[in-house]
Amino acid sequence: MRLAIVGAGTMGNAHARSCANLPGVAVTRVADPDAARAAALAARLGARATTDTEEAVGADDVDAVLVTTPTPSHRPVTELAAARGKHVFCEKPIARTVADGEAMVAACARAGVRFMVGHVVRFFPEYARIHALLQEGALGEIGVVRASRVNAYPKASRDWYADLAASGGPIVDMMIHDLDTLRWYFGEVERVYARGLSGTPHQPRVDYALAIVRFASGPIAHVETSWAHATFRTAIEVCGSLGTVRHAGEETQALRLERTAPAEEARAGVQVPASPTAESPYQTELRHFLEGIATGAPFLVTGEEAVRSLGVALAALESVLTGRPVAFADGRPQLREAH
Ligand SMILES: NC(=O)c1ccc[n+]([C@@H]2O[C@H](COP(=O)([O-])OP(=O)(O)OC[C@H]3O[C@@H](n4cnc5c(N)ncnc54)[C@H](O)[C@@H]3O)[C@@H](O)[C@H]2O)c1
Repeated sequence: MRLAIVGAGTMGNAHARSCANLPGVAVTRVADPDAARAAALAARLGARATTDTEEAVGADDVDAVLVTTPTPSHRPVTELAAARGKHVFCEKPIARTVADGEAMVAACARAGVRFMVGHVVRFFPEYARIHALLQEGALGEIGVVRASRVNAYPKASRDWYADLAASGGPIVDMMIHDLDTLRWYFGEVERVYARGLSGTPHQPRVDYALAIVRFASGPIAHVETSWAHATFRTAIEVCGSLGTVRHAGEETQALRLERTAPAEEARAGVQVPASPTAESPYQTELRHFLEGIATGAPFLVTGEEAVRSLGVALAALESVLTGRPVAFADGRPQLREAH
């Protein structure tokens, strides 16, 4: 399988590491408007670098495209790749708006190419094990869930995470991991209420949100996200009538140092979670994508699923911005406007 990586930032480099470990995979093209970044990553992979995305995704030596650009450009890059008949793996969130996400799903369906979105938490063994326990009914009737995912304020190309219109803040960028996982566990959402700092004067440097999510199947979830911490940390607790399951990402690391980087010390980019497993969940995710293309097996995270999860995140963001809850009809948020 021959791949193009479009976007040579934090996630482009992360997926490149997975590609290097997967047999039968060659990255042949790397595209990034930042020529130095494209060249550096391409050199490590033995690929050809370009600043022209269209040239990379249209190349004859590319079968599938990994879209690892800032969120607002997921749609144009995916549409370009689909139009050239290339399968697409796109980083989460699928897009910044539901309309963009739906257009991407439609473009891939029209072109007859496979489309998967990188909701990687479904590939973390701990979260997958909780899913299996729930499927088995091992915890009985689920009442309450608490999920938390906190990080330092992310640094990236052109500081695009600090622009709420581009990234959606920590709700659309980070909380969406847990919202997607909880949708996988419990099905569609009925109502969301959230409070947070997005849209306040704090937001460009400190952001935080807490959402209360009611699922149509019964459970109520408290979902916390933050870009106000020193380092990355995750936790989840699921309480049912037959028992509770708990996971805290930090407990799997024997030694932990948390230190806020001095202002003059540039952080490498976004901190992404590690998992002490034989295979990185990012590699498991990519292997799933490649095997799905080879065998025709369905993907664990389809574009349609990713659009639904984006809808929940946008509902939480709207709730923070308006101070009012957002109701859902048939799994779709009744948003007042496009955020
Ligand atoms: N799954 C995860 O754990 C995870 C973690 C971090 C980020 N992400 C997601 O990955 C995506 C990328 O985030 P990042 O932190 O790597 O960003 P980044 O800013 O580090 O990298 C993005 C790169 O894309 C390039 N770029 C911008 N527009 C482009 C275009 N039109 N064509 C080609 N390249 C373009 C930029 O120059 C930059 O090098 C975002 O959607 C983000 O939400 C996912």
